[in-house]
Amino acid sequence: MVRIAVLGAGRIGKIHAASVAANAKAKLVVIADPFADAVKPVAAAHGAEAMTDAMAAIERTDVDAVVIGTPTDTHVAFLMRAVELGKAVLCEKPIDLDMAKSESAAAEVERRGGKVMLAFNRRFDSTFAEMRRAIDAGRIGDVRQVVISSRDPGMPPPAYVKTSGGIFRDMTIHDFDMARWLLGEEPVLVTAVGSRLIDPALVSQYDDYDTVMVVLQTASGKQAHINNCREAVYGYDQRVEVLGATGMLTQDNLRPTTMRLTTAELTDAREPLLNFFLERYAQAYRAEMDAFIDAIDGGKPMPTTVRDGVLALRLAECAVESARSGQAVRV
Ligand SMILES: NC(=O)c1ccc[n+]([C@@H]2O[C@H](COP(=O)([O-])OP(=O)(O)OC[C@H]3O[C@@H](n4cnc5c(N)ncnc54)[C@H](O)[C@@H]3O)[C@@H](O)[C@H]2O)c1
Repeated sequence: MVRIAVLGAGRIGKIHAASVAANAKAKLVVIADPFADAVKPVAAAHGAEAMTDAMAAIERTDVDAVVIGTPTDTHVAFLMRAVELGKAVLCEKPIDLDMAKSESAAAEVERRGGKVMLAFNRRFDSTFAEMRRAIDAGRIGDVRQVVISSRDPGMPPPAYVKTSGGIFRDMTIHDFDMARWLLGEEPVLVTAVGSRLIDPALVSQYDDYDTVMVVLQTASGKQAHINNCREAVYGYDQRVEVLGATGMLTQDNLRPTTMRLTTAELTDAREPLLNFFLERYAQAYRAEMDAFIDAIDGGKPMPTTVRDGVLALRLAECAVESARSGQAVRV
């Protein structure tokens, strides 16, 4: 039994708590969040203890592993304490918004041989994982281009935009990880453009953008294109295409059902897309947690690492620089 503490009882903390509780090889010991009213019902729902002090939860002797689902600026302190105590960690992305702080935390984790997994949940989506397996099996030959469209259904609230670290570090970070993972090579050149088309007054206040495109190129010339928009009126749009030397992989957005309506006025009308990440990636969050617990239980390497977190953040930094300068940036 892997005994786990979940830190944070917010949007992602609740998902992680439910995933731990559903895994037969794990026991959800405690959930910690400074807001007692928020944490108590979540803990009660899973028969776990509620605590208001996350550091104390990490330090409990009956906790083997820690899941960090707290605000980004708290990650590094919790991560380092858990690693110091020899506990395995699943840490939400990003490690931190600051590159130097993320790099030094990752270096320290590596120096100590810490068992840390970065929560890049999209790698565990059953379709995207099947794409990676198809590439590994040689079904499309050498990968040449990866095209990622990732659009949110609507602008986040102003308070979120203020602390997000900007669209490249907050939103594109998932796509940078997907691009690295599907290309199978590290990008060496980043070109990005950013626009303010949805809420110019809001995003310009934080020197941010709401609509961006990025082109990545690896040393051997493989390319990835990422487009992100904070608002797609038709819903949460998540599409990936991989072009190889002998074929192409594509997939569809997910809907609640596969029903299509055809009438005299229209054909093949379908239900709206699954709305936003908690619904769209429900299976991926569960599989991500199962992979974390399996790695601990089986003494295997973590499927994603702090280095993946640092490399994705580095691409985000380059994209910010490129969008601001109008120049391509070497990684
Ligand atoms: N991988 C993904 O798909 C994904 C999705 C959403 C969020 N995230 C990441 O997860 C993290 C949390 O995001 P969220 O959307 O769940 O935020 P949230 O605001 O919904 O939840 C955060 C929770 O942490 C609690 N908290 C604050 N300080 C704490 C502390 N010191 N100790 C313990 N708990 C504390 C808050 O009270 C809140 O309940 C962020 O780093 C975010 O980037 C990742």
